[in-house]
Amino acid sequence: MATNKNGLSGILKDYQTLVVVGANWGDEGKGKVIDKVLEHYDVTARFSGGANAGHTVFTPDGKKLVSHLIPCGLAQNKICVLGRGEFFNAELFLQELEESKKVLGDAPLPPIYIDRQAALWTPYHRLFEAYIEAARGENKVGTTNKGIGPLEGLYKLRLAPVVGMMFEEAVLLKVVKSLVDVLKPCFESAEFKSLGLELPAPEQVCKELIRYSAAIKGFVGDTSLLLYKKFSEGDRILFEGAQAAGLDAWWGTYPYVSSGNSVAAGAALGTGLPMQNFGATIMVTKILPTRVGFGPFVSEMWNRSDAMSFAKEHLELFTKGTARDEFLSSYLEKINSGAASNAEMSQYFQVLGDERGATTGRGRSVGFLDIPWLKYAVRINGPKWLALTRFDMLSKIKSIPVVVGYKLDGTVLQDGELPPSWEMAKVEPVFETWEGFSEDISGTSDAQKLPQAAGNFIEKLEKHIGVPILLVGTGPGREAILVRP
Ligand code: IMP
Repeated sequence: MATNKNGLSGILKDYQTLVVVGANWGDEGKGKVIDKVLEHYDVTARFSGGANAGHTVFTPDGKKLVSHLIPCGLAQNKICVLGRGEFFNAELFLQELEESKKVLGDAPLPPIYIDRQAALWTPYHRLFEAYIEAARGENKVGTTNKGIGPLEGLYKLRLAPVVGMMFEEAVLLKVVKSLVDVLKPCFESAEFKSLGLELPAPEQVCKELIRYSAAIKGFVGDTSLLLYKKFSEGDRILFEGAQAAGLDAWWGTYPYVSSGNSVAAGAALGTGLPMQNFGATIMVTKILPTRVGFGPFVSEMWNRSDAMSFAKEHLELFTKGTARDEFLSSYLEKINSGAASNAEMSQYFQVLGDERGATTGRGRSVGFLDIPWLKYAVRINGPKWLALTRFDMLSKIKSIPVVVGYKLDGTVLQDGELPPSWEMAKVEPVFETWEGFSEDISGTSDAQKLPQAAGNFIEKLEKHIGVPILLVGTGPGREAILVRP
């Protein structure tokens, strides 16, 4: 059993299983929270998403590891489980394993298990996604182009190969051929041809997959049975969410969502461990939520395309240097004098938070703290605690607008109530101005050292949401996170 060393030990000891999920639209810093709690768990399991995710964790001696498919436990020699709900890409898995081994050096590699019936990625999924996004024209989702949506969708249409088929050449070829047959009209369309993408033959695709299978065979098994046994033996299990509530295929802002079950219930569905074995959930929210791709975002400061173009065109501001420092100090002055427009506030926070995607490099649009959304995410996820990340972004901000209500057709919606996705664009945010704090709290790792006004802000947020805030992130560094008493 994992040993407990820091202040979290007493708090987490009663929870043999812990689920960590995102509250917004991804990029909440779930990796940072997982890094903080990892030492208290023996097994880490992924239950949703695929290579569209990106989590940063550290080895015990502080080396940085970025994971996309393999659970974060790899960094700290914890058993790693890629559950049935995670979309499996053999090529990227092997690449990630090699890259991770380089970082880990001589450190031991933990046991890794891949579910034998997880949906198996092929290049057709990415090609089909390119076709769908092109064919949707103005209605595109703005996906990460990893083929995740088609993999999930075609799995549900009973057309996807699964991991175990990599060891049965004839079965794999049959399934891949039937997949290509079904997609033929799309691949033969003028729309697809205009993309100029190469369409490989099924035999070639299967040959590649069979080539990877030798390296993967030792990892593949029945992960549901494994988790059941580990749980029964008293092992502590951490379930690592990918994406977030707003991107959950059912509970997010459909159709502008990813394709997995990113909410806490997805942990049971995507790993096969029964619901009765689940303990607590930590829901991670950024102090200022962000969004990439398309889709509704009620508390957004600026508009999506301008925010994204700003990130693309002003890359030099996002990297450290004098230009960045000067930009930030002049914008901070403007914000505190009340003269900044919402567009300028967005630019300030985009640069301050280096809001660019870890997986795609795309700019992220920034929003104000959104209480109605958080209440909805709490209702769907049922967290025991919240983790608030990037709280340091409010450093030195005297006051900040906060969205405290959603108004639809002139009526303010009740707590936890959300309009259907297609009406979200009509929602008008109801703002309150909250007092900020004049100190710079960057890097604070001791709750007692948090300035009074910053503490008041957190308490006010807790009161509004009705869930205690256990962890607060105060900067990008590993130690920049504090546990609240
Ligand atoms: P997909 O997951 O590639 O299908 O993309 C669907 C939507 O989810 C797009 O808006 C993506 O930008 C978004 N998305 C998927 N994964 C992440 C993530 O890890 N962080 C932020 N956004 C994501």
